Amino acid sequence: MQFADRLNNVETSAIRELFKLLGKPGIISFAGGFPDSAMFDVDGIREAVNLALSEEAGGALQYGATEGYNPLREQLAAFMASKGAKDVTPEGLIVTTGSQQALDLIGKTLINPGDKVIVEGPTFLATIQCFRLYGAQVIAAPIDAQGVKADALEQLVAEHKPKFVYLIPTFGNPSGATLSLARRKQVLEMAVRTQTVVIEDDPYGDLYFGEAPPPSLLALSSQVPGSRDWLVHCGSLSKVLSPGLRVGWMIAPPELLAKATMCKQFSDAHTSTFAQATAAQYLKAGRMPATLAHVRQVYAERARVMGESLKRELGDAIEFTQPGGGLFFWARLTGANGKLKDAGELAKRAIDKGVAFVPGAPFFASNPDHATLRLSFATADVAKIEEGVGRLGQAI
Ligand SMILES: Cc1ncc(COP(=O)(O)O)c(C=O)c1O
Repeated sequence: MQFADRLNNVETSAIRELFKLLGKPGIISFAGGFPDSAMFDVDGIREAVNLALSEEAGGALQYGATEGYNPLREQLAAFMASKGAKDVTPEGLIVTTGSQQALDLIGKTLINPGDKVIVEGPTFLATIQCFRLYGAQVIAAPIDAQGVKADALEQLVAEHKPKFVYLIPTFGNPSGATLSLARRKQVLEMAVRTQTVVIEDDPYGDLYFGEAPPPSLLALSSQVPGSRDWLVHCGSLSKVLSPGLRVGWMIAPPELLAKATMCKQFSDAHTSTFAQATAAQYLKAGRMPATLAHVRQVYAERARVMGESLKRELGDAIEFTQPGGGLFFWARLTGANGKLKDAGELAKRAIDKGVAFVPGAPFFASNPDHATLRLSFATADVAKIEEGVGRLGQAI
């Protein structure tokens, strides 16, 4: 069979290959990028399903508008307003099938083969793959614990004139890093000055443990004149409520939103109306604040225990910044005292000891750092985290 040339730009993710090994009995996994199924608000979702069927079965079970189900668009605009983005209107957003679809629509509407796009190094692997599928040359901008280095980003933008810049400013995947307020403003100002589209992907911003993170780029855009014209924001219910619902959304300048909607028509016509009506009822019932409070508390405890265990069991063989939210530890093997420095090698040894994590190298669009690794604290309880990190200590 003759496949499309665009497939030559991508390969199956190295991480997916690793996931095949996770079926081994007794493995403690820090490898996933998903929330803990034990924490799903099943009662709340059941109630939302029942309301969707009793109050609006016609809408919930019928074909719907590509832009999204209006009651959900209204709820999502209100949800964004509650997070400081006060000027988002229901018409100013479209509902997408997970934020992954929003990223795909961005690729479809903006990327020509050979175009350059800038992402963080490291960033969400599926995004790198998705943009490459459309023929983009993906360039990585350096980050530190304060997120992307804004000065370096500005230089790369000036040098490469990218089609857009893609950032996960809050509790990044895999970096766990959060862009500082000053850098957020700098990024928005740069977008206006250089007329560069900036994509803010924000599935983790609600999952903070102590202090709330700085406002999203979207919320801050009201303070930087003109920046809204260059900003795209992607949101998702996946990490806070349920990834199985596949409800995400995209807020973008009207022209881009219209093109993305057109592309979505040819892709899935619309996101499941049943899922949208369920999500709308859930948000309308006012359950989200309690749900967020619960998941924040559980993940905060797991993150605390993972940080302490890593220090205790691996000592100076590993370095990391304690994350203030999200689902991930991003760490670096130091090689101290003759311990392993290659996270790929450690991943293999770790599986033999009964614990899994994801090596960091595949998350880099260029210049991979083979000493890095990503550990998720989301799906294992505190006892399993201690045991799993103990096994990691034996593997290194
Ligand atoms: C940074 C980032 N963006 C987008 C997604 C996609 O999420 P969903 O399509 O479930 O909304 C993920 C999921 O892991 C992610 O980590």
